[in-house]
Amino acid sequence: MKPVNIGIVGLGTVGGGALNLLRDNAAELSRRTGRDIRVSHVGVRRDRPELNLNDIRISRDSFAVVQDPAVDIVVEVIGGTTTAREIVLQAIANGKHVVTANKALLAEHGNEIFAAAEEKGVYVAFEAAVAGGVPIIKVLREGLAANRIDWLAGIINGTGNFILTEMRDKGRDFDDVLAEAQALGYAEADPTFDVEGIDAAHKLTILASLAFGMPLQFAKAYTEGITQLTREDVSYAEELGFRIKHLGIARRTPAGIELRVHPTLIPADRLIANVNGVKNAVLVQADAVGPTLYYGAGAGAGPTASAVVADIVDVVRALTAESAPNVPHLAFMPQAIADTPILSMEAVVTAYYLRLQALDKPGVLADVTRILSSHDISIEAIIQKPSRDNGDSVPVILLTKPVLEREMNRAIAELEALSDIAGAVTRIRMETLA
Ligand code: HSE
Repeated sequence: MKPVNIGIVGLGTVGGGALNLLRDNAAELSRRTGRDIRVSHVGVRRDRPELNLNDIRISRDSFAVVQDPAVDIVVEVIGGTTTAREIVLQAIANGKHVVTANKALLAEHGNEIFAAAEEKGVYVAFEAAVAGGVPIIKVLREGLAANRIDWLAGIINGTGNFILTEMRDKGRDFDDVLAEAQALGYAEADPTFDVEGIDAAHKLTILASLAFGMPLQFAKAYTEGITQLTREDVSYAEELGFRIKHLGIARRTPAGIELRVHPTLIPADRLIANVNGVKNAVLVQADAVGPTLYYGAGAGAGPTASAVVADIVDVVRALTAESAPNVPHLAFMPQAIADTPILSMEAVVTAYYLRLQALDKPGVLADVTRILSSHDISIEAIIQKPSRDNGDSVPVILLTKPVLEREMNRAIAELEALSDIAGAVTRIRMETLA
């Protein structure tokens, strides 16, 4: 049978990794698919002397790849949402299948792209878009297809998790660890995407659509990064038996879907609390199977190329089969995608960690507890630390029971208005993930 020709657009960390993996494992891939798979054309803007591009057509103009009649499958790994969108839509219009690692593109333009692909009868595969080498897309779309999914929570940005882990374990500086993540090829081109939670929100948007069968709605995701986290909060959390992780959470509630990315206290003995370094993990709670956890490398050339090449294998098998499997792009049949509302953050219920700096004098704690109680906020634990600098204020740390965020916002505004409370109240949401 004739070989399948792959066109790769972009030869950065992921594109170069996929090229090498297709070559290194060519014999094994041919045994898996019954076809030879070869890279026939690459679109690359600059020379990559370290890559062996012999026998491959090279174009500086990426659009030449999607217009090449010899190319069967286009691998889009240039990132971004403008040229990448044009490339993918043109590839689809030209009847080519697409494999992409581009979470931003799918979170922001996926509805348009999948509609175009369905109309044209081509595949757009995107396993590499979420959690690097962890096959979470296949899990949600196929492995858990029997279930109604209740919620999922994931560490889905390797760079952020790497930074938090290094800061906690080695006391390293934020900027120093970020620079290392960039050098290792983990970080986004714009690293604020990693540390401000935008990359995680892109991925969460995709996971939530697959879990609940709804359109991609990135603009409605609540996004909070890790740049405001302090070492003292990390250590107070540890003292209370918690770890702080940057989680993406999607939860089905009777009123709608929670879609949120933020630092989160989770009990230290949960498996997911012990996911460190660049590793990702996604915990899925589903009705029949119960909780399942998926873990592995979330970024880097090898793990991401593993997902890209697995998608190529799926597409090659489908191209070769007499009748191809019909796995819908968003896990549910396109006509069954439901416009379930996404909740605003004020309508979300969670427990909280609060840290406030209180003047060391009688009655201050009484004022604090009075305000919380007036908003029906129940306190789970409270600790007051001795003053670190022998000044006249002391840190007070509170854990609350679950409360509507709207009530917590009002309570925090009243706490900050107290003359005996210095500065802003630090709040970090808490989840038991039970
Ligand atoms: N910047 C991303 C991360 C790369 O650190 O997880 C993988 O999507």
